[in-house]
Amino acid sequence: MKVIRRVDTKQHARSGSLKEFSRFAHDYDRYNIIQSQAAEALVSNIPVDHYPCIVDLGCGSGEVYKNIRQKGFSFDHFTALDSSQKMLDIHPVDLKVEKICADFNTQEAFETFSTDEKSILISSSALQWSHDLDFTFSHLSKKAKQAYFAIFTASTFKTLHQIADIRSPIYTEAVLKNTIDRYYQAEYETYSYKLYFDSTYDMLNYIKKSGVSGGEKKLTYKQVKELIAAYPLDYLEFEVLFVTARSCSFA
Ligand SMILES: C[S@@+](CC[C@H](N)C(=O)[O-])C[C@H]1O[C@@H](n2cnc3c(N)ncnc32)[C@H](O)[C@@H]1O
Repeated sequence: MKVIRRVDTKQHARSGSLKEFSRFAHDYDRYNIIQSQAAEALVSNIPVDHYPCIVDLGCGSGEVYKNIRQKGFSFDHFTALDSSQKMLDIHPVDLKVEKICADFNTQEAFETFSTDEKSILISSSALQWSHDLDFTFSHLSKKAKQAYFAIFTASTFKTLHQIADIRSPIYTEAVLKNTIDRYYQAEYETYSYKLYFDSTYDMLNYIKKSGVSGGEKKLTYKQVKELIAAYPLDYLEFEVLFVTARSCSFA
């Protein structure tokens, strides 16, 4: 049985990931336990109100949308943007929902949707796949005044990476904060999560199917076997940076 505990703490990826997300799109809802908690926590940080336009970047199967609906927000338009058409296919449909297949690492993605001063940007568990944080946040900061992000940090799978001698493919908390501070006045909260498993084999399978994987798939069969033998914990570690941000450059 899997048990999740959440503990408050004080305290480069990317090619290949899109293919992984599409391959496992149908299984995805079974493997997104942590992403689902992160989306719920992120939406809880947003004042329940009416918003003319909400944009969700890396919307996946619609965790943000589901929470927005559940918590009683209202909106005129909801833009669900994702680079995986298969993920968009399983995102809820609604007359007010516009689905856009676009890659937030490209200039064109930011030209596919329009916003105004009352629009809000949300992104949960996706921006860790930015190829260039300056590019992404500089474009985002011009699209809306108010933004809410939940981003996985390099401390995700920390022990596993240490044992396998892998450098995390995603950004550290410090790099994320430094970059975001260049474009936003932001408040931060960092949460760590533990996800318990019956076996290390189950853990590795989870990583593969959860869409938070990065470097692990580069391991050889022998390395995976060694990792299974040496991993000392019965849980996987996750760290998520929650950001409430006000743009410095929104015109
Ligand atoms: C871990 S899932 C999170 C999905 C959803 N936001 C949630 O909270 O469950 C990451 C999503 O980001 C999308 N994604 C990854 N890189 C992207 C990119 N460069 N542009 C747009 N979407 C991207 C993936 O296709 C996937 O649907």
